[in-house]
Amino acid sequence: MLPPGPREPAALQTVEWIARPTAFLRRCRARHGEPFTVRVAWADAPMVLVSDPEAIRRVFAADPAVLHGGASSTVLEPFAGPTSILLTHGPEHLRRRRELLPAFHGDALAGGRETIAAMAAAEVAAWPAGATLRTLPRMQALTLEVILRVVFGPGERPELRAAIRRALDMTASLPRLVAMSLHRGATWNRFLRAVGEVDGLLAREIDRGGHPAGSLLGALAAADIGREELRDQVVTVLAAGHETTAGSLAWALERLAHHPAIQARVRDGDHAYLDAVVKEVLRVRPVLSIAARRVAAPFEVGGHLLPPGVHVAPCIYLAHRRPQAWPDPTSFRPERFLEGAPERGTYLPFGGGERRCAGAAFAALELREVLRAVLGRFALAPAGAGTERMRRGSVTLRPSRGGTVVPEPLQPTRLCRSSAATTA
Ligand code: HEM
Repeated sequence: MLPPGPREPAALQTVEWIARPTAFLRRCRARHGEPFTVRVAWADAPMVLVSDPEAIRRVFAADPAVLHGGASSTVLEPFAGPTSILLTHGPEHLRRRRELLPAFHGDALAGGRETIAAMAAAEVAAWPAGATLRTLPRMQALTLEVILRVVFGPGERPELRAAIRRALDMTASLPRLVAMSLHRGATWNRFLRAVGEVDGLLAREIDRGGHPAGSLLGALAAADIGREELRDQVVTVLAAGHETTAGSLAWALERLAHHPAIQARVRDGDHAYLDAVVKEVLRVRPVLSIAARRVAAPFEVGGHLLPPGVHVAPCIYLAHRRPQAWPDPTSFRPERFLEGAPERGTYLPFGGGERRCAGAAFAALELREVLRAVLGRFALAPAGAGTERMRRGSVTLRPSRGGTVVPEPLQPTRLCRSSAATTA
């Protein structure tokens, strides 16, 4: 038998999952304990959520033949394509992973740092000082620009950029997201048309050939990968690799605006502290709430034997709020990451096991460079009373007011040391 969970119809649970995601998750755990089972239209079968570290470790360590990754349906599916790393499993999935990983690790990562720093500096230079700024759209534009550069190499691609944003923005509004999740009617078809437009432009880019050696497309094309697969890999990276990073950056700026002392300490240029700030943002405001797997053979978790067909998902949001692992869990306190590595199964912003985020190191680098650029130029102040709520938009949990802050110019004596060195 599945663990207990809310009795409301799936449609109602879906509305709560989308409209009040964090309150819904907290309430489920308070009422039903852990693990608990939800029924939402985003997954085609009941989904068992776990947040206990031991259960999370078991899920991430499970044999991929028992728990399949990438089999839960999301609005990313039409984007990703059937051969995408997100939707394949077993040896095929591992092969796709091996193709992608070099582009986001080692030398490629080191080489990307200066480029990202320069792109971030250019973005921040255009911000109006002293005016209220919604950072989410700015961060979406910047992270899309960065990932397009990784995939295709240098150059402007305004048409493709606009088409990708158009398609993703269709999944941003709450009513549309509910409509698309519950009923694949006219809104869904409009979304598919927007994805088709992205596809057309991508096909043109791919067929153009002559992709630079340092770009992901260059590397994949050299590995003699078929056209369909090339398309799916590229689209997956474009979609997975910018919306998440943009949301995390908007959260980082929103959190920092409420914590001037933390901003000041980042400006002192201590790399370890900046890294701790990034980790704490991803803990306290994780943009993805779950890392789902589909049960392929009976799997025991938390005293329940789950049958094949259902989903089991470590709940990132709830795991990051366990007071046993994170004292005073809702407070924003980067220092906690200077006190040693967290216990396994308690910190999972990038998921875990064989499906752990392929772009984790790249995303952390991007977050650090953008924060360095912003705080090297501005002191951030909150734009209104109170903090922003976590709202579902597209596939991420974003700030309800778009991460709104007021960037005030810094006095020359307070300029961030490391930023002055890297972005001058
Ligand atoms: C702050 C930013 C990001 C967050 C929070 C994030 C989070 C995640 C999570 C939770 C997963 C699922 C892991 C699992 O199921 O165990 C994932 C998968 C993935 N992410 Fe990220 N991600 C981020 C940025 C990126 C970037 C920048 C890229 C690409 C450059 C990327 C590419 C991928 C890919 C390809 C997968 C699928 C991995 C697989 O199935 O083997 N992500 N990410």
